[in-house]
Amino acid sequence: MNTSWNRKDQHIHYAEMQYNSPKTNGLDGVRFVHQSLSEMSVNNVSLKTTLGDIELDTPFFINAMTGGSDKATIINKNLAEVARNTNLAMALGSISIALKEPQYKESFEIVRKTNPNGILFANLGAHHSVDNAKRAVEMIEANALQLHLNTPQELVMPEGDRDFSDWLTNIEAIVNSLSVPVIVKEVGFGISKETIKQLTDVGVTIIDVAGKGGTNFIEIENERRDLKEYAYLYDWGQTTAESLLETKMYQDKATFIASGGIRTPLEMLKCFGLGASAVGLSGEFLHLILTKGTQETISQINRFKQELTHLMTLVGAKNIQSIKDKSIVLDNQLLNWCHQRHLP
Ligand code: FNR
Repeated sequence: MNTSWNRKDQHIHYAEMQYNSPKTNGLDGVRFVHQSLSEMSVNNVSLKTTLGDIELDTPFFINAMTGGSDKATIINKNLAEVARNTNLAMALGSISIALKEPQYKESFEIVRKTNPNGILFANLGAHHSVDNAKRAVEMIEANALQLHLNTPQELVMPEGDRDFSDWLTNIEAIVNSLSVPVIVKEVGFGISKETIKQLTDVGVTIIDVAGKGGTNFIEIENERRDLKEYAYLYDWGQTTAESLLETKMYQDKATFIASGGIRTPLEMLKCFGLGASAVGLSGEFLHLILTKGTQETISQINRFKQELTHLMTLVGAKNIQSIKDKSIVLDNQLLNWCHQRHLP
């Protein structure tokens, strides 16, 4: 391992290396029942959705990734350009590095400069103080703050945190002090109904399940270790499908975002069918921007929008909200998960 190689660059490198290794986010086990008479026209479809008070024209967005190195700055600028041209919301990577080392502020501020009117989410770890949370929001004039939960990543990271005892109290303090909405998100290990209860009990109203099946941060951090001891832990966590099933009892108390290995409009549709209000993509957009560039990423996103409109017509859903009323069948593995977890 080259220790002078910036950690943010390593994350980008290993995340992109993972792109071609097949994983499952469980959504293969979720199927819509085909109805031959949808009684819909593509002209009746609206892709608009809301996350609390935040209105999104498009129900999928660029989820948290990077910032804090020269390479990350270029990626952020390009992604901001894509977001501006497609009217997508965009989350930035953890801004923690720029709070500690001001020379990295530009790596994040460039996103607001490139997309002055866009919807942007700042991102920090759940252990940060209220003061840091406010500084993060101010730095990029964020419309919301994402707080990430990443215990497995921290523990596998050689220089990671080892004490997680005050995270929930911190989250509560931040939720009560910020003027913008707080989104609590996982980073690819999924969510449980117990965690959702803890979060909603302290006032969190927007949760991104970020399930297993896409970018895997145990694997990324393990690659950064000399002995790579943690290879046995790569399957840790709940898939995106399992995580969305875990949200079922809380869908009237909180708004849920789906993410974790989402690559196609059909997977998005399935997430909406399971109750998500929006879908976040990280690995897919990283891959597109690195391998195809800005223009082709913009074209791909426009195709995604059109295909999603077609799929909503296919299932007879005029808006995102109504997709969850459509008939869905689960495979035995997911049914078993629901049964053992006492999910409705
Ligand atoms: C991430 N992710 C992430 N999440 C977060 O909350 N803060 C962060 O700083 C980062 N950094 C980061 C870097 C890179 C290179 C990637 C690819 C991802 C996690 C991300 O937001 C998401 O939760 C997971 O990647 C799962 O989604 P995908 O990648 O499977 O779509």
